[in-house]
Amino acid sequence: MSKPAPPPTGMRRNLANYGDAAFSVFLRKAFIKALGYTDEALDRPIIGIVDTNSGYNACHSNIPDLIEAAKRGVLLAGGIPIPFPVISIQESFANPTSMYLRNLMAMDVEEMIRAQPMDAVILLGGCDKTVPALLMGAASANVPAILLVTGPMLAGSWRGERLGACTDCRRYWGRYRAGALDDTQIGEINGELAPTIGTCGVMGTASTMALAAEAMGMMLPGGATIPAVMAERRRLAEMTGTRAVAMAAENLTPVQIMTPTAFKNALRVVLAAGGSTNALIHLTAIAGRCGIGIDLAGFDRMGRETPVLVDLKPTGQGYMEDLHRAGGLTAMLRALGPMVDTSSLTVSGRTMAENLAGLPPAWPQDVVKPCDAPVAPSGAMAVLRGNLAPEGAIIKQAAARASLLQHTGRAVVFADLADLAARIDSDDLDVTADDILVLQNAGPKGAPGMPEAGYIPIPKKLLRAGVTDMVRISDARMSGTAFGTIVLHISPEAALGGPLALVQSGDQIRLDTAGRRIDVLLSDEELARRRAALPAAPTGAGRRGYEKLYFDTVTQAERGCDFDFCIPEITRMVP
Ligand code: FES
Repeated sequence: MSKPAPPPTGMRRNLANYGDAAFSVFLRKAFIKALGYTDEALDRPIIGIVDTNSGYNACHSNIPDLIEAAKRGVLLAGGIPIPFPVISIQESFANPTSMYLRNLMAMDVEEMIRAQPMDAVILLGGCDKTVPALLMGAASANVPAILLVTGPMLAGSWRGERLGACTDCRRYWGRYRAGALDDTQIGEINGELAPTIGTCGVMGTASTMALAAEAMGMMLPGGATIPAVMAERRRLAEMTGTRAVAMAAENLTPVQIMTPTAFKNALRVVLAAGGSTNALIHLTAIAGRCGIGIDLAGFDRMGRETPVLVDLKPTGQGYMEDLHRAGGLTAMLRALGPMVDTSSLTVSGRTMAENLAGLPPAWPQDVVKPCDAPVAPSGAMAVLRGNLAPEGAIIKQAAARASLLQHTGRAVVFADLADLAARIDSDDLDVTADDILVLQNAGPKGAPGMPEAGYIPIPKKLLRAGVTDMVRISDARMSGTAFGTIVLHISPEAALGGPLALVQSGDQIRLDTAGRRIDVLLSDEELARRRAALPAAPTGAGRRGYEKLYFDTVTQAERGCDFDFCIPEITRMVP
């Protein structure tokens, strides 16, 4: 029997279908030769480079430089680099929300990798939703892929105080709302919050996902924390290009790297970083694309045993440039020791243990704490259940006020974002500091797009009285840069008839973080009576285009808010 032909490579991959493969190659070469390529160049391995630069995205503004450096690395290794665009999403330039568009970007990435000829692909991104979308798409396409993030911005300075996006955006805005800052001062601060290009400089979602991706092995060592403006990042881009050519030859694909162990390492690092709650949704979505499930109870157990080690805002004091100078993820992995399984494979072609062995030894620093003197002994995040969250909810304990973690209070309910905006600062609002602010209909379908509205503002009249934190609960998400005693991701969401929809102002709600519960103190009979009066859940009926697809197929937080038809059968779980 003759051996089957090897799969096509380079320009012969993913041919446009004219019913004659030789003609398809002939035609393709005719067009690409218009760019000046020779036949010899076109016979080399092709490395696609996903370009997510956009005039709307300052977090990605160094991508042209990174592409040039990555191209140099590809050429040095004997490949041909071909950048191509996909959509770009920046947090503050996406209506209704960036989360609403994440799956669209993931589909764009997957299909453009699948459609075009490339033997490996370099994924370039950085802003919150772009790294998850790149990894989701790459996992589904399963072509050798290596991630390079744009890197964090540097911290700014205002009248002697260090500041940066976006924990300080919220902190100073709260002080402005309370009347502690005037228009001139808040204007000056506005000009310093993002003093350079790059991703937010605190332990927000972008920083958390960069660390998680490096911990998963999808990025070269050190790649998560190098600031966007440093030459070191360009050198890493060159190395990434060189490595992509080798990965093409090795056919080292994302699902070989993104294993259950890799996701466990990523979740561990998220917890030790005091990272963003959004990371749990994104990692669930990426794992789902690999047929891997993340069990919320297991994540909660991991949270109980993982100390918070990184002293960065919003849980601590520093900025990403400080973490980078302290050794970045390498310092974290060394501090976590046996809590990380370093046998996992990485894009370097070596295990994490082999990577660590080749890196410089640790040096004295005070940003990554040792396990015996952590920022917090455990519990960066906790998973809650109860009659308000049968499918789960999450609280970032590390960024909460300890005295509010066990709290029973009267509900002050806002039916949706419009209701919140209309009434939160009204002097007539019946609210005290002991009440629990409840936001309904801000989940994946309710808003839609699960906005980062879980950081419900403290009512102005309480702010003026010096209140800085209250228990707040919702089916929304929260920016990784935010802080407070905030219960998020309540599932099922209110718009689907979840129990959150049944809460009325005046009800008593009990938050029992130690017992991992969030409950409304109502009888089952009363809840059933109220449920009968709920409106029908929103669907795609009467909608068109992407909006229809979104409403018909988006899943709840515990499934990563991915589209149900994009998730293969879950056959493995994170151990
Ligand atoms: Fe892009 Fe924060 S807005 S990383």
